[in-house]
Amino acid sequence: MNIKKGTQLAAVISGISTEGKGIYKTDEGLVIFIEKLIPGDKAIVEITRKKSSYAEAKLIELIEKSETRIEPPCNHFGTCGGCKFQYLPYQNQLEYKHKVVVDAFERIGGFNIPEIPAVIGSDDSYNYRNKMEFSFSDDKWYDIRPEQKPLTDFALGLHVPRFFTKVLDVEKCFLQSPVSNDILNLTRDFFKPKGISIYSTKTHSGFLRFLIIRQSKNTDDIMLNLVTYDYDEQLIEEYANLIKTNIPQVTTFINSFSTRKAQVAVGEDSKIIYGTGFIIEKLNNHIRDLSFKISPNSFFQTNTLQAGKLYSVGMEFLEPEKDDIVFDLYCGTGSISLFIADKVKNVIGVELVEDAINNAKENEMINNIENAEFILSDIKDYIKNENSSGNINLAATKIILDPPRSGLHPDICKILSETSFEKIVYISCNPVTQARDIAAICSAGNYSIEKIQPVDMFPQTHHIENVCLLNKN
Ligand SMILES: C[S@@+](CC[C@H](N)C(=O)[O-])C[C@H]1O[C@@H](n2cnc3c(N)ncnc32)[C@H](O)[C@@H]1O
Repeated sequence: MNIKKGTQLAAVISGISTEGKGIYKTDEGLVIFIEKLIPGDKAIVEITRKKSSYAEAKLIELIEKSETRIEPPCNHFGTCGGCKFQYLPYQNQLEYKHKVVVDAFERIGGFNIPEIPAVIGSDDSYNYRNKMEFSFSDDKWYDIRPEQKPLTDFALGLHVPRFFTKVLDVEKCFLQSPVSNDILNLTRDFFKPKGISIYSTKTHSGFLRFLIIRQSKNTDDIMLNLVTYDYDEQLIEEYANLIKTNIPQVTTFINSFSTRKAQVAVGEDSKIIYGTGFIIEKLNNHIRDLSFKISPNSFFQTNTLQAGKLYSVGMEFLEPEKDDIVFDLYCGTGSISLFIADKVKNVIGVELVEDAINNAKENEMINNIENAEFILSDIKDYIKNENSSGNINLAATKIILDPPRSGLHPDICKILSETSFEKIVYISCNPVTQARDIAAICSAGNYSIEKIQPVDMFPQTHHIENVCLLNKN
């Protein structure tokens, strides 16, 4: 069959890709990736992109549903790009994510790995997020679903995938708590009838930009952060009074300001309207409760309960001992460093973002921790310096790595491959780059994979977090 862009064909889905797309393999061996389909689905699809080794297609008609399909609970499903897996029961999501990790280590890493235990699932597969960012938009789009509601020029919700300025007006997001949905709807109901202007990326003017809600899962704190272009004292006071009266659970309200052209939900400046201006989140490190101060722009893992499980796996793999000195590379706001500090002699966190390092130092003080050090540096420079001074193996006994999705720079893998730390614990939100990097680290024969444990931080999405332990040979 001559397959090209526009070709329509019947497909029976046999698997799911690492990006969460359905996979159909033609008789000629061409692999086609199709969004919104799961194994067992039969569908008519249309090719949208054809490359020599693979193709992409869109769903035209679902002819026969897979037996595992369930009805997505969310009204916005299919338009919002947020949780693509709502049509898969949670247990099937976990099995699929397990396969992604196994495939990455076998195919990309080329490893003959020990059996990988089942993915550690999230107790809450909905309502688990502690942070949601919603955008305002006046670029006409449909309320809820196109067939149900007319076009609107006032939306507060989530971006429509592939449409830069279009925002889906969201009434209820299943990833956040009911009280966060109340804040979302009250905010829309307050500003919309008043005709308050919305920031436009075309004219670079307009008042309303973003609404960010952060909710601690282990304390009662809730932060509301309204990002506007400038300040309107009377309007903000009226809105603050409405929130105080109707949603007293909000403990702090911040009005941030951004005149930036980039649509990033971070203010250049901010004013605390009421409350402390931050929330406190708690994690238990099996010895005590640790407190984390979260300001509007601080990073914190978005699934608090799973973060505790993830860090516990990392700590168990590390087997911390009282004379250990541990590097926590890519430490962010230092949560992992502080989580393990009670069990080791010293922990040294290294990170590129200055605000994150400042947060880490502040959290160290709040928790009366005195054996953690936080260093602002690019990891590549830090590792190279330590290595060229001949110090790297003396400076620490064990390492934790938690890089961004893109993984490690090849120079870092090369240096690590020649070291002889007792243990390297590599935490990653991308098993593909993780498997690639670990193959490079193990290539000199100094390390081998000892254990792997995937943890699901993001139910209803295709994302999976994975922890891998390398032991010195
Ligand atoms: C996955 S996050 C780590 C999160 C942290 N371990 C936690 O659990 O809260 C990755 C971190 O790496 C930092 N980062 C990215 N590239 C870096 C680099 N080249 N050098 C140092 N840090 C970097 C990012 O700023 C981010 O904080």
